[in-house]
Amino acid sequence: MRVAVAGSSGFIGTALVAGLRSAGHDVVRLVRHAPAAPNEAQWDPEQGRVPLARLVGVEAVVHLGGINVGSHRWTRRFKKRLHHSRIRSTTVLASALTGLAARPRVFVSASAMGYYGPDRGRELLDEESGPGDGFLAGLCQDWEHAAAPARAADIAVCHPRFGLVIGPGGGALKPLLPLFRLGLGGHFGNGEQFWSPVSLSDTVRALRFLIEQHGCVGPYNVSCPAPVSNGEFSRLLADELHRPRLLPVPGFALQIAIGQASSELLGSLRMVPTRLSEAGFRFEHPDARSVIKSAL
Ligand SMILES: NC(=O)c1ccc[n+]([C@@H]2O[C@H](COP(=O)([O-])OP(=O)(O)OC[C@H]3O[C@@H](n4cnc5c(N)ncnc54)[C@H](OP(=O)(O)O)[C@@H]3O)[C@@H](O)[C@H]2O)c1
Repeated sequence: MRVAVAGSSGFIGTALVAGLRSAGHDVVRLVRHAPAAPNEAQWDPEQGRVPLARLVGVEAVVHLGGINVGSHRWTRRFKKRLHHSRIRSTTVLASALTGLAARPRVFVSASAMGYYGPDRGRELLDEESGPGDGFLAGLCQDWEHAAAPARAADIAVCHPRFGLVIGPGGGALKPLLPLFRLGLGGHFGNGEQFWSPVSLSDTVRALRFLIEQHGCVGPYNVSCPAPVSNGEFSRLLADELHRPRLLPVPGFALQIAIGQASSELLGSLRMVPTRLSEAGFRFEHPDARSVIKSAL
């Protein structure tokens, strides 16, 4: 199958492109820089330019692009950029796809667990759960809505709501690993908040599933079926690294260190992948320990 991927140079995109290629798919990477390889095609979300000629014959399009949420302190200006980079690029791509004589069958447009808000306590969150409050919840709703032009053109639009993606060399574990390796890591706040991790390899498998299985449409939680408390996650991580788990990192220290983004680590989101499971997807790393092991 011919698949186009935007946002392909990032943590998930790099692994996805490799996974798609090894499964025999022909991948076109939509890149914002000047193309440096034959499989790259340049697009410019700001100017609204999409190279439609390079998308002829594409059956699936995946969009993962947007400024990295952890790359800067969440000032008002940065939050605007986070929002704009996702909504603008998704609107431009979704609209462009409707202009193809043969439209792709499926458009997979990223979203995030932030849809459910910063903190939902012990509530089990499946795809029927309503959106939460706050900045990320608003951003995710607008982000999903931005794919409306593709939906209106009868393209099957899927929104993977990613949990904390954890994989070798990066992702949500990256800032934690050096501390835990030194035996200095501890849980955040009171440690009771739920985390919804997922391995990078299951994330790639889930994205492939949404593309390859005909009939997938709508939101899909992409997180392992057994979310754990942050305290338990920290215990498992220290255990796998054969290091002691030390003192907790107090919430106010995180707030000072990383600002509003600390709500990501201190809030509780107990997400379950109900729709993926019902569609027949099976996780290779179904719990926090196997997710951690997959990354180490
Ligand atoms: N990783 C996670 O744990 C996680 C969790 C929840 C949600 N997500 C979401 O899933 C998506 C992929 O995650 P990731 O971890 O792979 O992100 P990432 O490593 O930050 O990569 C995102 C990609 O977006 C593109 N990009 C950067 N700035 C952009 C802009 N201004 N406009 C359009 N595209 C831009 C870049 O690709 P090019 O330079 O090739 O265009 C970049 O490689 C992101 O939207 C992220 O918010 C990730």
